[in-house]
Amino acid sequence: MPDPELPRLEDYQRIVFFTGAGMSAESGIPTYRGEGGLWGQYDYRDYACQSAFDRDPAKVWVWHDERREMVGACEPNAAHRLMAAIGREKPLSLVVTQNIDGLHQRAGSERVIELHGSLWRQRCESCGARQENHELPLEPKRCACGAWWRPDLVWFEDMLDQRTIEEAVRVIEDCDCLVSVGTSASVYPAAEMPFIAMRAGATTVEINPEETPLSALFEHRLRGPATEILPLLWGA
Ligand code: APR
Repeated sequence: MPDPELPRLEDYQRIVFFTGAGMSAESGIPTYRGEGGLWGQYDYRDYACQSAFDRDPAKVWVWHDERREMVGACEPNAAHRLMAAIGREKPLSLVVTQNIDGLHQRAGSERVIELHGSLWRQRCESCGARQENHELPLEPKRCACGAWWRPDLVWFEDMLDQRTIEEAVRVIEDCDCLVSVGTSASVYPAAEMPFIAMRAGATTVEINPEETPLSALFEHRLRGPATEILPLLWGA
């Protein structure tokens, strides 16, 4: 007997899945915070900010190539695949993600807004060139103009891309249901997104094994891992 308290995603047309690192935890990619989190092992000031890149681009690339290697060996999990399937059934639905791993796209999601960039794209800050390159390790490391390729990521102290933010805000203002999955809601402006859905009167759902600073504001707070909880909201 389905739990009458649980929202049924079939009842919505414009669903936004707002995802964070917890979405990929069951694919084997460590989250950033909490036990075994990346920022507990590495100081972002050495590897994931502009000043580190300006200081020593080769060192920053060694670290990012290791991340690309690890992420490249991981597969989308059942929750990624279910979101893609729901996206096919509900074409006005999409994913707004903080993740840089590309697993939503590999699972088949076609409409994905990447707030924090992608491990698989690079940009040249000298000539403005951009590319997508999945080679492991990335070769060549330099753009044709001679400058180092920079990972096309939003690092700490970086501003988000204005057009990307505006597009995310636009689709969330228009959504009828926002499902937040696997984020600690601790990094802004990304963590602002659920507020936008709440102000727009959308149904809001949080899926996370743990409480977050925003939990009390969600209509539905579902405690558990993404691959166990998301299927309860679809086809039950
Ligand atoms: N299913 C759902 N949620 C999970 C799971 C799981 N299997 N495993 C862990 N979580 C939850 C954790 O409880 C935690 O609340 O995922 C969250 C991960 O939080 P963070 O590691 O802080 O990741 P995120 O919120 O995506 O970080 C935001 O911070 O470091 C920057 O740019 C980086 O995009 C990142 C941003």
